[in-house]
Amino acid sequence: MKRRDFLRLTGATVGASALAGTALGDQTPPFRTPRASGKSVMGLVTPKMDVVRVGLIGIGERGSGHLSHLLALEGVEVRAICDSHGPTLQAGQKQFTDKHLPVPPSYGKDEYDYRNMLDRDDIDLVMVVTPWEKHVSMAVDAMNRGKHVFTEVPAAVTVEEAWKLVDTAEKTQRHCMMMENCCYGREELLVLNMCRLGLFGELLHGEGAYIHDLRTQMFQLDHGCGSWRTAHYTKRNGNLYPTHGLGPVAQYMSINRGDRFDYLTSMSSPARMRDIFAKEHFPEDSIRRKSKYVCGDINTTIVKTALGRTIMVQWDEQLARPYSRLNLIQGTKGVWGGYPQRVVIEGTTKTAEEWTEGEGLETFYDKYEHPLWKRVGDEAKVQGGHGGMDWVMLWRAIYCLRNGLPLDQSVYDAAAWSVISPLSEWSVAHRGQSVDVPDFTRGKWKTTEPLGIVT
Ligand SMILES: NC(=O)c1ccc[n+]([C@@H]2O[C@H](COP(=O)([O-])OP(=O)(O)OC[C@H]3O[C@@H](n4cnc5c(N)ncnc54)[C@H](O)[C@@H]3O)[C@@H](O)[C@H]2O)c1
Repeated sequence: MKRRDFLRLTGATVGASALAGTALGDQTPPFRTPRASGKSVMGLVTPKMDVVRVGLIGIGERGSGHLSHLLALEGVEVRAICDSHGPTLQAGQKQFTDKHLPVPPSYGKDEYDYRNMLDRDDIDLVMVVTPWEKHVSMAVDAMNRGKHVFTEVPAAVTVEEAWKLVDTAEKTQRHCMMMENCCYGREELLVLNMCRLGLFGELLHGEGAYIHDLRTQMFQLDHGCGSWRTAHYTKRNGNLYPTHGLGPVAQYMSINRGDRFDYLTSMSSPARMRDIFAKEHFPEDSIRRKSKYVCGDINTTIVKTALGRTIMVQWDEQLARPYSRLNLIQGTKGVWGGYPQRVVIEGTTKTAEEWTEGEGLETFYDKYEHPLWKRVGDEAKVQGGHGGMDWVMLWRAIYCLRNGLPLDQSVYDAAAWSVISPLSEWSVAHRGQSVDVPDFTRGKWKTTEPLGIVT
């Protein structure tokens, strides 16, 4: 691998001797833990806010959904919106007029107009809902201007970026939460509750995935998710979108709160489907035909934790296959599997070799429904957003800010869950060699309590 490619993939600042080590086949890239520039934000609480005043950057497919939830949530005022694509900004403004609300100050005259929005002193929280490669610079700019940040997934695309988020949160003592909505699905909350009740025994292994056929996004050439996401498949080869499957499993296993990701190994299949799709659907002179797709169609990454547990994280955004996040957790007493939901608990369900599923799961939901879902599940069903989990996530995060509580997902989770992507890229490029996952908590994972069953 060329030196500049190595730097791009890892995002790490490496010295010549360290690079020589890598070239010699050392297992581990030399990711140094940077000197902390502030104090830990593990369990950070900030003063209660009566009303959370929000500035939203990015009102595309995802941001428009967030906006509609923000306009419905109690205790939230959207003070400013920003999108650099004129028609999208106008559509965002229309969401206000449709509800007979005044249109807030709007930004987007160029790529950097969001900074003018950040200069406002009537914003507490900035939501970053833009393409992956822009998350960190926007989040860092926002924290440096005294704002809390909720950022979309993945929070960062390089190791260096992940550290930047952590260090800026610590320096500014601001919240920086990645909006991993899948942690708030009804199923995932139920399973978290069952894990905490010890129903699966000691947790040994988990599986998460993002398997979602997104080929048709390639038709978005000038604007929309496919216009920028497709470029990633032409430059990177690894697990590009790990957090939806991994986040819930990380919470079951109390990652960064008693355990942590130690190292990973990763392999990708050949890259075929994007090229096939481009040939079938685009003329010869199209950028889609001219591009070379280098990202293997299926990536499989295995993470080893400090306590010795294993997590398989898969990624596939292009093959013909039904949607799945796997959502599997295996313990000494039983297993939960998702897609479709099913469970085995020794001594409770039929036999160890037979899944209980379908209607058989009703007793589990009756007994172990997570209190948070009991509290807001009904309104979540009405408000929607991926089966209601988007609403539960925002409801809960805003509730925490209004009540001066720590957030369920810390900046350390944002960094550790997101950094699986660049580390998988490194491992794929090195025949699946293992690579250490940085300890973004700088040791605090040993003393931080597991996430409780919040109400
Ligand atoms: N959690 C989920 O379930 C989920 C679902 C979909 C997307 N996402 C994430 O949400 C993010 C956005 O995805 P999307 O599908 O909405 O993409 P999108 O392309 O539809 O929207 C992104 C928006 O950001 C705007 N933007 C880009 N640069 C900007 C800048 N400098 N200033 C202001 N606005 C700018 C674009 O004009 C666009 O409208 C991504 O990180 C994606 O991974 C998460």
